[in-house]
Order: sequence, then structure tokens, then C-alpha cells
Amino acid sequence: MTIAEKINALRIQKKAVILAHNYQAVAIQDLADHRGDSLQLSILAQQSKAKLIVFCGVRFMAETAAMLNPEAKVLLPAQDAGCPMADMITVEQLRLFKAQHPGAPVICYVNSSAAVKAESDVCCTSSNAVKVMQSFPASQTLLFVPDVHLATWAAKRSGRKVIAWEGYCPIHEWGFETSQLKRLRQKYPDYTLLAHPECDDDIVEAAGHVLSTGGMLEYTKKHDKLIIATEATFTDYLKHIYPEKQIVALNTRARCKNMAKIDLHNLLESLEKEQFEVQVPPEIAAKALKSLQRMLEISR
Ligand code: 13P
Ligand code: SF4
Repeated sequence: MTIAEKINALRIQKKAVILAHNYQAVAIQDLADHRGDSLQLSILAQQSKAKLIVFCGVRFMAETAAMLNPEAKVLLPAQDAGCPMADMITVEQLRLFKAQHPGAPVICYVNSSAAVKAESDVCCTSSNAVKVMQSFPASQTLLFVPDVHLATWAAKRSGRKVIAWEGYCPIHEWGFETSQLKRLRQKYPDYTLLAHPECDDDIVEAAGHVLSTGGMLEYTKKHDKLIIATEATFTDYLKHIYPEKQIVALNTRARCKNMAKIDLHNLLESLEKEQFEVQVPPEIAAKALKSLQRMLEISR
């Protein structure tokens, strides 16, 4: 049996569901029951009837799935698959930030720990940040953690005044240069740039469209000739499902090491040994769930 056949046999035997984030390797995405961006995967996890969910992504995503679906056992095949951006704010730092701006509501990007979510008023993802900001009155100053770039872009789009924490995704912050874009634009003058809102402001400003990974996938269904400014494994996947289209990555080396920690071997081991279960302490989960549910209500 091949490793993929073993995974399939175990998945059926255990009635498990495999969810994969859009940044997962092509082989993982091909095997998964569902793929998606952070919001889509949160909704899929919440609605899943499966008792066993194997989450191919990073820890904050698996934690979110575990909180939204407490009936299921949620597994993360690579125990140390974290998110450096999520680690850029601790709950103690958030408490201090709130104390400096009394009364200001806190929006936290899902790329954050469960404890930070628990200390926030509402969560958001890259696909609903504008809508979440607009759910507050225009007169209200909002705090946003941890991604400064998503905060800046969404504040502009929503017309809200936002004080942002200075966190960032190293891949999106350091992965893309305007000089690279200039070179690609010379080579492909009629291509449209799609940028993730985690990108630096100059890349976001230059983009034809600023979208979540799910939004980019939808856009690619109907369009051709694209330059993609996000994690490059996602561009590999787009090229894999649309081999006839002309799609280039702004930087083929901009890759998330943490997303890449999951492979077919640890996915199989995860199913075999039911490891590594992701659990959130109940008192934190109860509070964080409120922020997540508020986000899901707003994005309906
Ligand atoms: P999406 O929700 O757009 O897939 O983004 C998740 C992420 O971690 C981007 O770096
Ligand atoms: Fe975190 Fe960036 Fe990796 Fe997304 S790409 S999981 S934000 S480190």
C-alpha cells in the first residue's frame, strides 16, 4: 500500500475528516476532505459531524477548530507547527495595550493564541476584517492585534480609526520586494497582482485585488494571468489545479516553514496514534469562543 492509500484506509476506518489550509503542500491538499482559508476551515470544523478531525495547518487554526467543535477530537499532525505572528503578542501584553486605551474594543486576527482571543471582543480573518471593523460605530476607536498590515489595510477600507499592534507575518513582511514586482511587471505587463493583506503596505497598494487565500482561489477560477503575492505553496496549488492558466508567484521562496511541517508521514502517524490532540483549557475556550462566535455572526 502507498502512504496515501494507508491514510485513506485509516480515514475511512476511523470516520475521520482531514482539513487542509490552502498553504499546505499539494499532496496534502489532494488528500484532504476539505481545503480552505482560515474562515472557511473554521466554519467547516464547526459544522463537521466527524468525531475525529485531522487539521493540516498551524496550531491557532487547530485550536480554533477545537473550540468551535468541542465534540470532536482535533489532531495537529506536527506538534510544533505554530505561527510566529500569533506569538508576537501575549495575553499580558494585550492587557497592557487595553489598559493604555480604556474602553476601546479589541479585534484580534485569528492568527493569535486562544488566550489572546479570550481577552478580545471579536475575532476576524483576512476575509472578514473589513466587515468586522464596520460592525462598530465609525466614532469608535478600535484596537487591532497582532497584524499591523491587515489592520492598516482593513482600517482604510472600512473607514475606521484603528490602533494596531506592531505584529507581522515574517513570510509576507520579508518575502516580497517592490523590486521583484517591478521585474515581474516588466516580464508580464498584462498580469493582475493579487496580494494577501498580510503583505507590506507597498505591495498591498500596488495590488489589483487584496484577498484572503480563499478569495484568491475564487478569483483564479474566473481569471487568468495572475501574479500571486502570498505564501508560495498556495501558488503551487493554484498551478496544480489550473495547469492551463498563467499564474506566477511574486516570490517562489516565500514559504511558511510551519505550514511545511506537515507531510504525508506525520499525517499518517497522526491518524494511527491519534496524535497530537489540541485542547484549550475550558475557562479560556469559553471566553475565546464568544469572540469567534461574534465573528461568525458578523460574517454570515
Ligand atoms: P487566510 O485566512 O487568508 O488563508 O490566511 C491565513 C494565514 O495564515 C495567512 O498567512
Ligand atoms: Fe503565520 Fe505567516 Fe505562516 Fe500564516 S504564513 S501561518 S501568518 S507565519
